[in-house]
Amino acid sequence: MDFKEELMRRRTFGIVSHPDAGKTTLTEKLLLFGGAIRVAGAVKSNKIKKGATSDFMEIERQRGISVATSVMGFEYNGYKINILDTPGHQDFQEDTFRTLTAVDSVIIVIDAAKGVEPQTEKLMNVCRMRHTPVIVFINKMDRPAHDTFTLLDEVEKQLNIKVRPLSWPIGSGDNFKGVYNLFDNTLQLFDPDIQEIQPGIKFNDLSHPELDTLLGKQATHLREEHELVEGVYPAFNHEAYLNGHLAPVFFGSALYNFGVQELLDTFVRIAPTPRPSETEERTILPEEPNFSGFVFKIHANIDPNHRSRIAFVKICSGHFKRNNVYTHVRQGKTLRISSPTAFMASQKETIEEAFPGDIIGVPDTGNFIIGDTLTEGEIVHFKGLPSFSPELFRYIENADPMKSKQLAKGIDQLMDEGVAQLFTNQFNGRKIIGTVGQLQFEVIQYRLEHEYGAKCRYEPLSMYKACWIECEDPKTLVEFKKRKYQKMATDKRGRDVFMADSAFILQMAQDEFKDINFHFTSEF
Ligand code: G4P
Repeated sequence: MDFKEELMRRRTFGIVSHPDAGKTTLTEKLLLFGGAIRVAGAVKSNKIKKGATSDFMEIERQRGISVATSVMGFEYNGYKINILDTPGHQDFQEDTFRTLTAVDSVIIVIDAAKGVEPQTEKLMNVCRMRHTPVIVFINKMDRPAHDTFTLLDEVEKQLNIKVRPLSWPIGSGDNFKGVYNLFDNTLQLFDPDIQEIQPGIKFNDLSHPELDTLLGKQATHLREEHELVEGVYPAFNHEAYLNGHLAPVFFGSALYNFGVQELLDTFVRIAPTPRPSETEERTILPEEPNFSGFVFKIHANIDPNHRSRIAFVKICSGHFKRNNVYTHVRQGKTLRISSPTAFMASQKETIEEAFPGDIIGVPDTGNFIIGDTLTEGEIVHFKGLPSFSPELFRYIENADPMKSKQLAKGIDQLMDEGVAQLFTNQFNGRKIIGTVGQLQFEVIQYRLEHEYGAKCRYEPLSMYKACWIECEDPKTLVEFKKRKYQKMATDKRGRDVFMADSAFILQMAQDEFKDINFHFTSEF
C-alpha cells in the first residue's frame, strides 16, 4: 500500500461523553467489531468512580488502565481506526481537551434519558473552537427516553450545532422496537435477547405493509415522524459535517450492541481522513513527505519499579520510520527513536513505521514536555495545546527538608506531564500550584511521595484566577507590574502571570489597563 492509500484509510477520533452516558460501553463494542478484543468486559472504564476521590490506589489503578487504553488501534473493513480515550472524571478535563487536539473527529455519546449534560457542553465547546467534525450517538434507547424531537432540539440548542438524524428510533424503553435507517431505508429490529448483529430489512419506502406487520401501531407513528423529519431537517450535507457545522445523529443501545455497527459503518465512510495541522509558522498538510508530529500526552512512572515515561506523539505529516533521526525542535537537537510503540488490538507492540493520523508511544527519559514538536529538521511549533487558566490554587511547601531535590524534580516532571501548573510569586518567591480540579492536588501529593520519595504540604490560597498578561508597550507593562507587585507571578516558562483575587479585581484591572492583554489560555 502506498503512502497516499495509508493516509486515506486512517480515521483517528475520540469518544466523549458526560460520565455514565456510555462512552466505555460504546468503545468496547467498537473494539469488538474490529476484532481488537474478543469478549465484552475487556475494556475497563477509566473513570474514577464516585466517592473514590481520596482512594489513591484507585487513582493508581486507573492510571495503569488508562495507559493501556489511551490509544486503541484496530483494522475494520480496510480502514485503520485509532480511538483516543479521554478521561471521564471532570477534574481531568484538561487531559481530555489536550487529547481532542490529536483527533480528527469526535463521537459524542448522549444518554437518551438525560439529554445534554454539562460536561457534554464543555467538550462540544472545545470541538467547536477547533472545527472538529462531530457525530452524535444517542444511547440507552432500551430505557425510557426523552421524546426524540425534544432531544434533537436540545442537542441543537445546547451544543449549538445543526443536527441531521441519519437513523430514527421506534419507541424507547419497553416499547423500543428498533431504528429505521433514514440513509439507506433499512429497518433494524431490536431484541434484547439477541446481541448478534441481524441484517437490516430493506424497504423502498415507508409505505410498505410489511412495516405494519413488524411494528404494529408504531408503524403509523414512524411514518408521521419520518414526514416531520424530512420537513424539518435539511438533507445530510457531508461538507457541512466536515467543517464542523452539522452533526449527524444516530440512535441505539451500546449495552445491547444495537445501532453500533451502523454507526461504525457510516463513520468510516463519512469521517475525515487526517486533517491539516496548524503550527505557529505555517499549515502542515498530512500528505507532505516529511515527517512531523507533536506530543499531546505524557504518561510517567506507570510502573514504580521502572522509571518509565511514554510520550504520545500524534503524527501530522510524512512517513514515520523506526530508527530514523528526527529533530526535537524545542531542544534543538536530534534523536533516534529506536523503540516506538503502538497499541494495536489492545497489545502494545514495537512498530517499524507509522502514518499521519497514527499515535506512537515514544519511551522518554525526561526529554519531552507536552506540546513538543518532532520534525525532519524544519523548525515549526504546533499550536492548539493550551493550558487553561487554573481556578484552584494552593501554596506548595516542602514537608521534608532532606528531600528538597526530589521534590523539585518531582514537581518539575509532573508539571511537564500537564498534571497542573506551577507559578512563582514574584513578591515572596513562594511556589503556587494551580489546577482545574480538586483531585489534582491529591494526585500530586500522592505521586510525589510514591514516585519521587518527596513530601509536600499545601497551604490554602484563595484566589479567583491566574491569567497571562502581555503588552506591546513595555512602559505600561512595568507600570502594571509595579502597581500589582504583590499579585504578580511567573509561570514555568518565565511568562508574566497576574493573580486576581476576585472577578471584581480582575475586571477593575482590565478596565484600568486597557492596553494590557489578559489571556485565559496559555496560547496567545
Ligand atoms: P461512561 O464510560 O460514559 O462513564 O459510561 P459507561 O459505558 O461506563 O456506562 C455507564 C453505565 O451505563 C454502565 O452501567 C453501563 O452498563 C450502562 N450503559 C451503557 N450503555 C447502555 C445502554 O445502551 N443501555 C443501558 N440500559 N445501559 C447502558 P453501570 O451499572 O454503571 O456499570 P456496570 O456495572 O454495568 O459496568
